[in-house]
Amino acid sequence: MQLEQTKAVITGGVSGLGFAVAQHLVAHGARVALFDINAEHVEAALAKLGSQACFFHTNVSDEGQVSTHVREAAAKMGGLNAAINCAGILGAGRILGKQGPMPLAQFARTVEVNLIGSFNVAKTAAEHMQHNDPGADGERGVIVNTASIAAFEGQIGQAAYSASKGGLVSMTLPMAREFARIGIRVMTIAPGVFHTPMVDGMPEQVYQSLCAQVPYPSRLGNPEEFAETVAFILQNHYLNGSVIRIDGAIRLPPK
Ligand SMILES: NC(=O)c1ccc[n+]([C@@H]2O[C@H](COP(=O)([O-])OP(=O)(O)OC[C@H]3O[C@@H](n4cnc5c(N)ncnc54)[C@H](O)[C@@H]3O)[C@@H](O)[C@H]2O)c1
Repeated sequence: MQLEQTKAVITGGVSGLGFAVAQHLVAHGARVALFDINAEHVEAALAKLGSQACFFHTNVSDEGQVSTHVREAAAKMGGLNAAINCAGILGAGRILGKQGPMPLAQFARTVEVNLIGSFNVAKTAAEHMQHNDPGADGERGVIVNTASIAAFEGQIGQAAYSASKGGLVSMTLPMAREFARIGIRVMTIAPGVFHTPMVDGMPEQVYQSLCAQVPYPSRLGNPEEFAETVAFILQNHYLNGSVIRIDGAIRLPPK
């Protein structure tokens, strides 16, 4: 897919990695629809992106909202051929914490946003994209999920988060296999530690120790590097059904 022909829904699109993807795609001529529940940063995000971007206040886990807004976003952009799932929450906490066992609702909410929300957007976007005219190689669309390296080496306190991200990793191949028939590719990116608002509140000492844990380059990932990976996936037709780690070779220790 050529970036200038991309018409993408980007969830979590007003902040962090999602916003970086929106900026990169818009800079290369794409149109984007941001789906987010973060009302605070919407105005600033849209002001930076300009007229190629629009926003829909959307909870990714809400089936009705996603269904309506995907349809409206496609109408606004003049089509839809990419869905980039970046919305996510940390849901951090020990299973047996100081206050007692983790409430089931906390575990469920993490899975609901990160895994079920991504599935919800993917299936709704695919339903729409299957009717697109086929492009080169018969391609009708691309879905990109954002997992995490915690899907593979989750730390203490990440049971819920790792479970949700592991679900995204596992879902990638069956989804790609099913959508092969309709020319829709499905890829997942597993980022290491990136410099986004999710890590902004971190004490300096923790931040420095995190940087030191990355073998090379010894720093946090730059959101633009994530956005470039998304763009590479969109443009390379032979990438399908697998997971790309982007992490400076870090392997998370138990804690
Ligand atoms: N930053 C990192 O180091 C890192 C590492 C690995 C994976 N990730 C993953 O990358 C994705 C983006 O993370 P980020 O660092 O940019 O975080 P972020 O907090 O800056 O952005 C996440 C966005 O998702 C939105 N969101 C949360 N729940 C939502 C919901 N129910 N419906 C719609 N939008 C919702 C938030 O409002 C926010 O704007 C997440 O899935 C995260 O798990 C991040």
